Amino acid sequence: MLKSFDIYNQNNILKIIVALNLLLVGTGSVLYTNRLINKLEDREEQYVQLYAKSIAYLVDSSHVDAGDLTFVTSEILEANSTIPAIYIDPDGQVAMKRNIEVPAEYTPEETEKFLRQKTIDMRKKHPPLVVEMGNGVRGLVYYTNSNLLRQLTYFPYVLLLILAALGVLAYLAFSSSRRAEQNRVWVGLAKETAHQLGTPMSSLMAWIEYMRSDPDQFDGSITDEIEKDVQRLETITARFSSIGSVPTLKEENVNDVVRQFTDYLGKRISTKVKMSVTSQLPPNQMVQINKLLFEWVIENICKNAVDAMKGVGELRLNMVPLPHNEVAIDITDTGKGISKANMQKVFSPGFSTKKRGWGLGLTLAKRIVEEYHNGRLYVKSSEVGKGTTFRIILNKK
Ligand SMILES: Nc1ncnc2c1ncn2[C@@H]1O[C@H](COP(=O)(O)OP(=O)(O)OP(=O)(O)O)[C@@H](O)[C@H]1O
Ligand SMILES: [Mg+2]
Repeated sequence: MLKSFDIYNQNNILKIIVALNLLLVGTGSVLYTNRLINKLEDREEQYVQLYAKSIAYLVDSSHVDAGDLTFVTSEILEANSTIPAIYIDPDGQVAMKRNIEVPAEYTPEETEKFLRQKTIDMRKKHPPLVVEMGNGVRGLVYYTNSNLLRQLTYFPYVLLLILAALGVLAYLAFSSSRRAEQNRVWVGLAKETAHQLGTPMSSLMAWIEYMRSDPDQFDGSITDEIEKDVQRLETITARFSSIGSVPTLKEENVNDVVRQFTDYLGKRISTKVKMSVTSQLPPNQMVQINKLLFEWVIENICKNAVDAMKGVGELRLNMVPLPHNEVAIDITDTGKGISKANMQKVFSPGFSTKKRGWGLGLTLAKRIVEEYHNGRLYVKSSEVGKGTTFRIILNKK
């Protein structure tokens, strides 16, 4: 049976809504500015057409009498203070320019060359407008987009960039708040459990003392067994209390820690599981670990392995040196294996395929390895029906 906590599903829906909104606003504004740009481009073209007509009007000598109209057209020519334009007269000379900065130090020849180059660049943007002088004589007005229009064409990209940055920020904010919430739940629960276990445990210790003081009435071997159980409970309490606070790491001989703990564990699992520990590490390989929590990791992974083998099979632990100052502890079983689809999921809280599983063992193990030891824990390989290898990576320093 697959179980899954859905407390975070709502968060996911919220994420989708925010993402959709950003997308909507993004495409909306791009479409809108594009329309705006098209309109402005049309207007600028109309304006240049008017400009070209004014030139034709002014140049055409038949209007010499109409002094007032000449005034209007020169007004139009002057009014163009935004659109760069160059007028080439019928003789092919640069006869007029607007809104084009020519470097002051240029000689007339250089200026001419500069402006001609400009007309070539302008032609790439818009075909020049023809100024008809009548009887086949014609000049050309070259023009390009105004500064305003040019800036506006960049605007949608800038906007998309800003929206993308906003999206990333929102995503980060979401996931960090979710993480912080998870952390609080973990730490709170762990602390509370350790605290609650404290009272019955000290009273159990007192009972054991009492039983020892009266060997006639209480069988000594039974008292010993109870004491072992109480010690086990103490370990559990200590684990919970150290996960609920910032755990301290100590230099430990990793070979010894793993061997000692697997010896202990080996006595507590089915005798039909063949357990072995091998190591390619130097015998005195030291690693920074919190022994109590690290043992918990090994225990969780080994217990899962035994479950996956239904109590019959081989469980191998192998320690190997890795480059970059790292050591790996591989835990291999000959159990049922994990399907590709589930390889990531096994670490999510609540994921369990067991009748009585909480789906917390690997979540906890990953957290202990990655957040408390700065290491890594992952499924190194697995084949359905054949077995699985989990890999723990720890830093030597
Ligand atoms: N060695 C393994 N081989 C095959 N499947 C595994 C192995 N280890 C873990 N799994 C799968 O991953 C799931 C999650 O494991 P996890 O330890 O997190 O939870 P659990 O064992 O189901 O419950 P508990 O919280 O009691 O540990 C298991 O239910 C199992 O399906
Ligand atoms: Mg488990």
